Formats: sequence, structure tokens, C-alpha cells
Amino acid sequence: MVDVGRHPNIELLTMCEVVKVKGYVGSFEVTLRKHPRYVTEDCTFCGECLERCNVFTEDAFNVNRALRKAIYTPFLQSVPRQYVIDDKVCIHFSEEACQKCWEDCKKHAIDLSQTVEEETVRIGAVIASTGVKPYDPTGLYGYGDSRFPDVITSMELERMMSPEGPTKGEIIRPSTRQAPGSVAFIQCVGSRSEKEGELPYCSKLCCPNTIKNTLLLKDRFPELEICVFHNNIRTSGNRQERMFLEARKQGVVFISSFPEMSQDHILIFSDPLLGDERLMKKQFDLVVLAIGIRPTASEMSELLGVPLGKRGFIKEDSQLAPTSTPTTGIYFAGAVGSPADVKQCIEQAGSAAMQVSKHFQRDTAKLSPNIAKLDLEKCTGCGKCSNQCLFGAVRVEDKVAVITGAACRGCGNCINACEFDAISISNYGEEQLRAQLRAALREPEDKIVVFACHWCSYAGADFAGTSRLQYSPNVRIIKTMCSCRVTVDLITYAFALGAPKVMVSGCHPGDCHYLDNNMFTKRRVLKFKEELASKGINPERLMLKWVSAAEGQRFVRAVQEMEQLRVDEDETEMTKMIFSEPKKRRLKKRVMK
Ligand code: FES
Repeated sequence: MVDVGRHPNIELLTMCEVVKVKGYVGSFEVTLRKHPRYVTEDCTFCGECLERCNVFTEDAFNVNRALRKAIYTPFLQSVPRQYVIDDKVCIHFSEEACQKCWEDCKKHAIDLSQTVEEETVRIGAVIASTGVKPYDPTGLYGYGDSRFPDVITSMELERMMSPEGPTKGEIIRPSTRQAPGSVAFIQCVGSRSEKEGELPYCSKLCCPNTIKNTLLLKDRFPELEICVFHNNIRTSGNRQERMFLEARKQGVVFISSFPEMSQDHILIFSDPLLGDERLMKKQFDLVVLAIGIRPTASEMSELLGVPLGKRGFIKEDSQLAPTSTPTTGIYFAGAVGSPADVKQCIEQAGSAAMQVSKHFQRDTAKLSPNIAKLDLEKCTGCGKCSNQCLFGAVRVEDKVAVITGAACRGCGNCINACEFDAISISNYGEEQLRAQLRAALREPEDKIVVFACHWCSYAGADFAGTSRLQYSPNVRIIKTMCSCRVTVDLITYAFALGAPKVMVSGCHPGDCHYLDNNMFTKRRVLKFKEELASKGINPERLMLKWVSAAEGQRFVRAVQEMEQLRVDEDETEMTKMIFSEPKKRRLKKRVMK
């Protein structure tokens, strides 16, 4: 932080809240709400104001286990090195007009007239790095209950061990304020659990953090009895495993069990060797709950228009771009994307900074040529395309859709949402794909039309070819950028041209290069198969197959499976007739303003 604060090319804006972000790569406009610090840059951090202030409140940095004053610094190393006045606590801002700090400041650095200000800054790229919140274990193992004062969280132990913490580094039992003779750590508290309100994932840092704390405790109190109750210790890499072995060597006992708490800090647990029937009881002086971490990304995701994953962390663009969001120019670093330890956060920060620097190296940005285009005459401003776009590239302004080319990834999913044919994709336009279908189905008998996505399935088919795998010469491949570009209209058109069989092929779930757009494909194809069945057409004539770039063999097997399906001429003719009828569209005209 200190290095960041001193860096000539970094402007550090503290006390700021991001209230709005709009724009696209190279041209974002960010609206900031600047909260008053009431202390100017003239502050020399002499501490006289701190001496004079006698208004106290709970200190959140010390997990509310200590008090701080109304004028304070969050922690000693905080940047900038200036005090701040908490206006929710300071009595100058309530009934009593105290201004002792102002009176005593020799540098005249107190400015109680400061107010909230808003400012808009223009920037080229964004890195979100808002961290995480600790899980609140209130109610678990008696935490927060006055009957169990000696049950604390790992965060509280962390602050207790700090020389700047509430006990100035002394390890004590809160009930007696004496040093403990035995300490139990309980791992995975509220984590790796499907129970409501608990965290279904591994928070990643609790096991290494507990091991580190056991080593620090053993260093200070070699005779201290320490037991760690765990749900399989998770240490990764050379260093963490070394620390784990060292802790065991120093006499820390690791017990694989979920203990229960009874009165007087007695833990009841099963003997891992003898099984659940043999319950053991042991009283501990101090019980430390290793709590997990909660995401804080929901507000940021809304502001930036980037999607969240199932667990509430910011979703990465793909596994190959672990610090990129789906929106070009917006990146993230640290645990805002998934649980991460300090080392990983630093690595991700470096990666995100490199991604941003790529944009700064040029005066222009390279964009994909395949982007959505809008026909203004047909657009009614219904907004369905905007809801469908996972990249925030389409929004409705003034009753008409507006496409931001710099944010558009060209997947084509929006086309499916538009009932008025108002959107198309350059290079993958409806007429271009239809022309390919017409050429492929000039002699439709026995043909298998395969719609393959560019990134995986087309590459898989290519791999089959370069691997000299044999498959039917009747296959006709039509490439789209993503399988989600394959509209029901296109499939219908293929059947109307006499195609006996159609395959829609895309990346495996979770591998789609456009977030989870292949799940839209899945829903559409399965629904259309039902429609085929309802019309008396064999739904097996339409296949959905996930094929990765390395699965040439799988592609060949899928084609062979389709080949074995018998479709007689009458059936093809009947399908042709059914789908040759022109589509009945709701031909709404755009309401002109
Ligand atoms: Fe392959 Fe989306 S990119 S299915």
C-alpha cells in the first residue's frame, strides 16, 4: 500500500465510493462519491488531535474487540498517513458542537466544513478488487453466546496476536484474561456445507492460516496443547505442506472429526481410529473457529455490468483468461473472483495489470470484426436482446436498442431474443448462413448438417481430419462463433431445405467461450426436439452434441451415430412441407417517437 501511495503514476483516491460506471474499453466514465475525511493533506500525523478526542466507538478493524476514537486511523500502516473523522460518531456533527481536534491542530489540518462530493473520471480500463468478507459464525459452536466467551473466530485470534491488536499481542482467554493452557481449532466452520446460510465452497485460506497460527502459538508457548479438528486438511504446494508437517512435528494434534460443543467449552468428538461409536470429550481453554470467506462482488457486478458465478464471485471470462471479465476492458484481481490467498491475489494483480497495460500500448483497440448490427427500422426497443446479452453490449436508450461494438463479443445470442429480425452479426448474418445451408443441401439426400461452434466443435472436427479419422462424406459443417448463434429459424430452414439430419454442436458445459451461452443452445434445442415430436417428426433427427477441440474421436462417433439413423424419403418430404410454411412473425413496426 505504501509503495502504491508513493508511486508517481498511481493516483490513490481514498474515501471514495463508485456509484456509476458507463462506457466501454478506452472510454469508461466512472462517477465517484467522495466522502469527507475532515482532515486535509497538511496532517503530519502528530497525534495531538487523537489525544484530545474523548469520544469512543467499537473498532471494526479489531473485530469490535477494542475501542477507537472518533478521529482515528484505521490501522497504523494505512495509506495515506492522515487521520479521518468518523462523522457518524463525532459529536461535532450531532447535538454538541465539539471541535477540540480543530482547536488543537497546529497545522490547521482539520476542516469540519467538508461535504460529500461527486466527481466523474474518464478511464480506459477497470480492475475490480474489492476483496471478501469474513463469514459470521454466530450461533455455531456457541459463538456469540455469553455462555461461551472463550469461543473466538480466527479473525479475532489474528487481531489478538498482533502487537497493535486489542491485547497488544497477548494471547488470553477472554473470560479470565489469563493465558490458555489448551487451544482447539475447528476447521470449515460454515464452509463446505450445503446447509442454508453456510458456504458450499472451500475458502482455501483457513487450513494454511490455522497451521500458521499453531506454529506461532507453539513458538511462544511450546507447552501449549493444541488440537485441530478438521474436515481433511487442505494444503497446497510445497510451502504449506512443509508448514503442516512442521506443526505435527511440534506436537499439534490433527483430528479428522466434526466436534460438538457442550457446556464449559467441552468438545465432543469421535475417535478417528475407532469410529463414531467411540465418542471422546475434552475441555479446552480457548476454541478458535476457522471461518470462511464470503464474496462481496454483487454490488460491483451490478455497477460494472459483469456477471457473477453461482457462488456470488465475479465470473471469469474463460479458464484461459482467469482475470478477465466477459466485458473487454474490465478485469479483476484477488478474492473477488474466487477464494484466494495473498500469494494468488498478488499473482492475479500482476496478471490484471498486464491485461490493462496491453490496452495502453496502443492508441487503438483491436476489436472482433464479428459484432452485432442493429436495423433501426425494425427495432421496437422491447429490450429482450439487452436481457439476453451477458456482456452488457446491448442496452435500450430512448426506446431503441444501442449496441456498444467495443463490448460486443459477436456470439449471436441476442439474435435469438429478437422477434423482429432487427439484429444480425457481421460475417455470420442470417442470409450468409442460409446461403451456406442452400449450398450444402443442393442435393439434400443423406446429408448431415452440422452447426459447429468455432472454438471447440469446429476445432474438434478439424482435429478428426488432421488425425486422419474417417467419417461420412455426407457431413456438411456450418461454422458459427458460438453454438448459441444457431437459431431455431436456422434449424427449421435446414429441415425445410430437405436436410434429413441436423446436429448442433458446441463446447462442453462450462467451456463455452461466451460464458454459459451454450446453455441457451441446450434449452433451445431440447425445446425444438419436443416441437418436432409434437409434429410427428422423429426428434432424433436433431442432435445436440458437446465436442471439445481435442475430441476428434467423439465428433466422429457422433456423426456415425447420426448416420445409423434411418430417415426415409417420405419423412423428409413431410418435414420439408411442415417447415416450408413461412414463419408467422409478429410484424410489429417500431413505434416512432
Ligand atoms: Fe462453443 Fe459457445 S463457444 S458453444
